[in-house]
Amino acid sequence: MLEQILSRYPQDRTSLVMILQDLQSEFGYLPQDALEEISTRLEISRAQVYSVATFYNVLSLKPRGRHLIRVCMGTACHVRQGSLILAAAERELGIKDGETSADGEFTLQSVGCVGACAIGPVVEVDEEHFGHMNVQKMSRLIRKIKKRAASDTTSAGEERS
Ligand code: FES
Repeated sequence: MLEQILSRYPQDRTSLVMILQDLQSEFGYLPQDALEEISTRLEISRAQVYSVATFYNVLSLKPRGRHLIRVCMGTACHVRQGSLILAAAERELGIKDGETSADGEFTLQSVGCVGACAIGPVVEVDEEHFGHMNVQKMSRLIRKIKKRAASDTTSAGEERS
């Protein structure tokens, strides 16, 4: 798979971000051995590869859950109860900021400004924005996603049987 991704781009440093994005969407994260291979092939130091890999919120060095829940903690959202919203998400999901649930369904992440301050506080779920959040709305939203995820699993199971 990595070979396929590498073959799409020129083998130099200008391709690094695009290669990492493709790797992220294929694997759901950036495997360490792939990052080392990229460093060798593009002739960029490992430190530089890791610095790009950790700079962008969309990239992750750890496997992520099927659903990615991001709570904006940029200044505009933070002052409007961003941390209470994050705490509500942690409670509902039973995980802490930066963790993935044991069933691999959810990853929770606090992030910097997502560029939608006017509708803050903002939460992103799988890249969909939810604005004007509060603690109650956060809890309801997570319960709704959990319910949908459970019914997706059930119907996938029924289709297989
Ligand atoms: S601070 Fe949250 S969207 Fe800008």
